[in-house]
Amino acid sequence: MLKMENISKVFRTDVVETHALRQFSLNVDEGDFVTVTGPSGSGKTTFLNIAGLLETYSSGTYELDGKDVSNLSDSARSRLRNEKIGFIFQSFNLIPDLNLFDNVDVPLRYRGFNSAERKKRIEEALETVGLSNRMKHLPAQLSGGQQQRVAIARALAGSPRFLLADEPTGNLDSKMAHSVMDLLHNINAQGTTIVMVTHDPGFAKQAKRNIFVRDGQVSENTLVEQDLPSAASA
Ligand SMILES: Nc1ncnc2c1ncn2[C@@H]1O[C@H](COP(=O)(O)OP(=O)(O)O)[C@@H](O)[C@H]1O
Ligand SMILES: [Mg+2]
Repeated sequence: MLKMENISKVFRTDVVETHALRQFSLNVDEGDFVTVTGPSGSGKTTFLNIAGLLETYSSGTYELDGKDVSNLSDSARSRLRNEKIGFIFQSFNLIPDLNLFDNVDVPLRYRGFNSAERKKRIEEALETVGLSNRMKHLPAQLSGGQQQRVAIARALAGSPRFLLADEPTGNLDSKMAHSVMDLLHNINAQGTTIVMVTHDPGFAKQAKRNIFVRDGQVSENTLVEQDLPSAASA
């Protein structure tokens, strides 16, 4: 599904050069559920942004679904991203003056679905995250946990094959965090490949594979023993 080899990413400003990723290599198989941990500044978000085609890289190769995405035009990248990738940001990134229905609609409009198809997808996605009775609310009228669930609905509404999440539980209380994790497990059980940055070792244990990033490289890559009961079957 995802194959990165020796990806490097350098951020340059007038005064400093930051090597956010150095020879970063990783394979993620279809159906996998990978967590990414590592110290602050180690490159986790940069990796996720590159994986999600939100950012380019300085060198190396990245194949998404067998397709080399290194030399795509901006519009081809956007199209591929809209088609295959859902992204959940730590800070939710909801549009404050759009209600929940319209927030979830934003990426669907880019996909060119007709309005009946969009309506069906939006209602289903909000139903999945337990917010179908709030469709006309504005983000500010919701708790942080609810806003994060809207962000998840927005990421899911386009049925992405690949879901990338940057500390999706980082701003949530423990009960909300667990309900978000249950949701991600269900989505993974239905076939969506997930890569999630998290600081929570308990959540990392529930995934299928854990990678640890240090100084812009994968320093550990471990398969989680699968004898734990999966939240998806609960
Ligand atoms: N847009 C940017 N411009 C300059 N430096 C950046 C930018 N984004 C990230 N960095 C730097 O790259 C390094 C990795 O950052 P990041 O990927 O955000 O780490 P993490 O998510 O693990 O905390 C850090 O040193 C950070 O300051
Ligand atoms: Mg980060």
